[in-house]
Amino acid sequence: MSAERSPTLHRPGLDSLRTVSIIATGSYVPDRVLTNTELEKFVDTTDEWIYTRTGIRQRHIAEDHQATSDLAIAAARKAMENGNIRPEEIDYLIVATCTPDMHFPSTACMVQKELGATNAACVDLSAACSGFVYAIDMARQYIQSGTMNTALVIGAEKMSCLLDWEDRATCVLFGDGAGAAILQARGDQYGILTSVLGGDGKLGDLLNVPGGGSRLPITPEVLADKQHVLKMAGREVFKHAVTGMAGAAQETLRRCGATIDDVACIIPHQANARIIQAISQRIDAPMEKFYVNLDRFGNTSAASVIMAIDEAARKGRIQRGDLVLLVVFGAGFTWAASLLEW
Ligand SMILES: CC(C)(COP(=O)(O)OP(=O)(O)OC[C@H]1O[C@@H](n2cnc3c(N)ncnc32)[C@H](O)[C@@H]1OP(=O)(O)O)[C@@H](O)C(=O)NCCC(=O)NCCS
Repeated sequence: MSAERSPTLHRPGLDSLRTVSIIATGSYVPDRVLTNTELEKFVDTTDEWIYTRTGIRQRHIAEDHQATSDLAIAAARKAMENGNIRPEEIDYLIVATCTPDMHFPSTACMVQKELGATNAACVDLSAACSGFVYAIDMARQYIQSGTMNTALVIGAEKMSCLLDWEDRATCVLFGDGAGAAILQARGDQYGILTSVLGGDGKLGDLLNVPGGGSRLPITPEVLADKQHVLKMAGREVFKHAVTGMAGAAQETLRRCGATIDDVACIIPHQANARIIQAISQRIDAPMEKFYVNLDRFGNTSAASVIMAIDEAARKGRIQRGDLVLLVVFGAGFTWAASLLEW
């Protein structure tokens, strides 16, 4: 016997898909700047090596007492101020990070508490450097369907706490920071047109932090072996980052029926200037189309692309109505691209 459906049941939002836009952004970096020249004093490296291989001149490093949520909260407050958003309006709060304050509760819950965003569902998203683009696409689905109205999406990292400061091949690359975006349905534009998300777990060992999780909990041996810090096969990662990001960018444009000429600004993950140059050649986009600020911040992982979006918007490099292409790559491996009307 089939149960009779209640006439009062309904599927909220599915009848009218809404367009979803980033309506405001904000970012924060800790005050302390660590230049390549300062690094020379305690790492066997040179400013010349770092700059020519990566394009990085300096990075910001959090104070010992600052956790990822502190950076996230500072960025979120600016985004909320810029968007004139009250904490109670936020119904979805996502923090993309690979350096959460602790295993649990989520960093998103810690941010919620400080902001007083009492109506928000809270979750952390783990996709390493690709996390922010994954996260805005997750928020888009909820707002598009009408299930939620206002999302606060944050990319925040304290990468300095995962680094081996004796490994010159990795410690020179990363920095700390946070960026935040408010997403809402805005009827008068396309907003996020589409996103292409991907991953390949087979290549996970090329960039990881082996210890500190359930596979290899912290023990004196794990610490002595330095299994609790970031490990990377730089050359391999470089190659996959170029193919992953170029492929995602091209697929995103193809799905939207757009060409690179339609795009006003490409905002890539800020890992390495040479990676960005290689992508520019692969997708046949001039370097002037790329927004690059990694010289001042290094690779801030999940924070990098939203920090760059915020800066590009503040400087007028992206204007209302512009088509903006986001493209990211990270450990996992994971990659993502998103085309949006600003
Ligand atoms: C890390 C990276 C800059 C290294 O550049 P590279 O040209 O591949 O250099 P290699 O790793 O082959 O090392 C070349 C030499 O430089 C040395 N070297 C590495 N780091 C150095 C540093 N900071 N200063 C000076 N020398 C360094 C190496 O020891 C090696 O020396 P050797 O030839 O005597 O063995 C580059 O591979 C890279 O950017 N990869 C991608 C990393 C990334 O972006 N990861 C995050 C993705 S989300």
